[in-house]
Amino acid sequence: MTPHLRAEIDQVAEASIAALRAPSILNTQPWRWRLAGNNAELWADRSRRLDGIDPDGRLLLLSCGTALHHATVALLAAGYDAGIVRLPDPDRPDLVARIRQGRQRTADAFLYRAIYQRRTDRRPFGDTRPGDAVLDELRAAAERHGTHLHVVRDDQVTAFASAVAHAGEAEHGDARIREDLLAWTTRDRDDRDGVSPRSTVPDTHRTIAPRDFNLARPAALEPGTGSDRGTAYVILTVEEEEPSNWVAAGEALSDVWLTLTARGLAASPISEVVEVPAVRVALRRLLGGVGHPAIAMRVGVPVDDLEPVPPSVRRSGTDTIGLPGQP
Ligand SMILES: Cc1cc2nc3c(=O)[nH]c(=O)nc-3n(C[C@H](O)[C@H](O)[C@H](O)COP(=O)(O)O)c2cc1C
Repeated sequence: MTPHLRAEIDQVAEASIAALRAPSILNTQPWRWRLAGNNAELWADRSRRLDGIDPDGRLLLLSCGTALHHATVALLAAGYDAGIVRLPDPDRPDLVARIRQGRQRTADAFLYRAIYQRRTDRRPFGDTRPGDAVLDELRAAAERHGTHLHVVRDDQVTAFASAVAHAGEAEHGDARIREDLLAWTTRDRDDRDGVSPRSTVPDTHRTIAPRDFNLARPAALEPGTGSDRGTAYVILTVEEEEPSNWVAAGEALSDVWLTLTARGLAASPISEVVEVPAVRVALRRLLGGVGHPAIAMRVGVPVDDLEPVPPSVRRSGTDTIGLPGQP
């Protein structure tokens, strides 16, 4: 093996390690990397799909998309474009992408640094609304992946809040969804996945409350003093409902989230509105029938003086990255 090829292989391996930090639905981390020559293959791990919350595997593919984008950000920080072929084999739909080191370019670590700072922050944000310039930047980040970011207007917030509330009620009454939530909020520490009470907040009175994760264990993160009044709600949409677009939406979610983190903002996704089919349809109507909602998110200015949200656990490289010759 030439030193050049060796360096190329090391680079994609590093990128798949950085991608371990990617966000995923209920921290299921439903992916597996397989190093194959100078490519890293990203595989969807269907054994981690949530039967109740995500029967079609959309959020699983969105989660794989965030991992794919994190890997491209790591390559960019090392001074390379990413050569990506998405869903390369129709006979193997779980092969989400092949990624390799592309052309050399000026290294850019702007988003890479945000990988290690980004958290799901479910606490109420402050009174100040994210500025128009940064919201434009987030729209541009979404559009880089062929998706669109709709910022919920003031006159739409009530309808959006009612969609979130309806989704919450529908999910509360669904035994399979409660089972998913219970299973993934009570994982063993050794599993290194799932949502820990250390990152969930008790209910505070606010227009739109985050999903209730605390069916079994009380929330342990202090909510702080934020009013959530300045919080912006955004909806990421795709043109068609198909697997390639769920992957693209995940890449966009990662790009938007890392960008807002790098700009000092914080966020948490609201995916229950796309998990309940009737609510997804209502949300599409709210958007005037343009685009299909892929995920929603609350974005805000974190309250000063609050401790950072503790980092959530991740599986190890040994568990998620297969070397050549391994399955
Ligand atoms: C597709 C997707 C859907 C998510 N849905 C929600 C949600 O509805 N509510 C929520 O609070 N967090 C949601 N999250 C955030 C995950 O719970 C979070 O990424 C995971 O627990 C890891 O924590 P971290 O983001 O702090 O690293 C979602 C993340 C992804 C990628």
